[in-house]
Amino acid sequence: VPENIDLAKAIDQLRKEKNAVILAHYYQTGDIQDIADFVGDSLALAQWAAKTKADVIVLCGVHFMGETAKILCPDKKVLVPDLNAGCSLADSCPATEFEKFVKAHPDHTVISYVNTTAAVKALTDVVVTSTNAKQIVESFPADEKIIFGPDRNLGNYINSITGRNMLLWDGACHVHEQFSLEKILLLKKQYPEAEVIAHPECKKVVLTVSDFIGSTAALLKHTIQSDKRQFIVATESGVIHEMRKKSPDKEFIPAPPNDSTCACNECNFMRLNTMQKLYNCLKFELPEIHVDESVQKKAVLPIQRMLELSE
Ligand code: 13P
Ligand code: SF4
Repeated sequence: VPENIDLAKAIDQLRKEKNAVILAHYYQTGDIQDIADFVGDSLALAQWAAKTKADVIVLCGVHFMGETAKILCPDKKVLVPDLNAGCSLADSCPATEFEKFVKAHPDHTVISYVNTTAAVKALTDVVVTSTNAKQIVESFPADEKIIFGPDRNLGNYINSITGRNMLLWDGACHVHEQFSLEKILLLKKQYPEAEVIAHPECKKVVLTVSDFIGSTAALLKHTIQSDKRQFIVATESGVIHEMRKKSPDKEFIPAPPNDSTCACNECNFMRLNTMQKLYNCLKFELPEIHVDESVQKKAVLPIQRMLELSE
C-alpha cells in the first residue's frame, strides 16, 4: 500500500472502477463496516450476494461467507481480504467425518448452520443461519428426524425452544464459548438496570442468565427497540459499533471473556481483515474464492432452499 494514501478514498475509487460491491459482517472492524456498501449478519450477506448486479463481490467476513457468495454467484469474482480468515466452528465439522455421521442416519433430514464449508453444505438438505434456524426447523413436521450441525449450543437452544429432539453434531465457536458466567453475573450487579443479550452460540449457562437471545441482526434490532438504556453484550464485540451508531444515547458493555488477558470476545479470524488488505484485494483482485463445480452444484440447493424459506 502506497504511503500517505487516503485508504477510504482509494478503496471507494477502486470499487467504482471495478463495479465491485463491498459486503461486511457486523464482526468486522468499525472502519471496514463504515466503508462497506452493506453491513449485515450471515443471512443478510447471503441475501445481498444473491441479488447484487456488481461484477465483483468483496466479502469482508470469513471464508465460509465468501464461499456462500461464490456458491450463489458462480460466475462472479468473489474476493475476501484475507484467505486465512477461517472459522473455528466450520473447522469443528470436517466434511469426511460429517459424511459418516449423515450416512449412519439415512432416515434423517440434514440441517446445517451456514458456518460450514462448501463440502458440508453439499451434504445438507437445508442451510440455516441463527436468524432463521427456528423458523426453518419448525417448517418440518414435528416428528421429522433431523440432524443439526455443527453448533451444539445453537442446536440445543433450538431444541429447547421448539421441543424438537434434533441429533446434534458436537461443534462450537471458540469466541462464543468463552464468555464467563461469573463475570457476567458480576457485571449484572454493577449495572442492575442492564439487559444481558446473547448470541445462541453461547453456552447454555450464559443463555440461562440472558434477557434476550438472538442472531447478530436480532440483537441489534432488540437494542434499537428496547426501552432499556444499558446492555451487556455476549457476542463478538464488533457488533457494538453498529449498536452505538443506531442508539448513540444507550450504553453497551461487552461481556468479558474467561481470560482477561486476551481480547477473546473479538473473533481473531474476522479481525484478520484490515483496510490495507481490503485496498490490496480490490486493486489486485486477490485473493479469490474458488469452489469446485461439482460441490457448487450440490451446495447451492440447500442455500437456495434457505433463501426461499426465509422470504
Ligand atoms: P450471524 O448469523 O449472527 O451473523 O452469526 C455469524 C457468526 O459467525 C456467529 O459467530
Ligand atoms: Fe466462526 Fe465464531 Fe468467528 Fe463466527 S465468531 S466466524 S462462528 S469463529
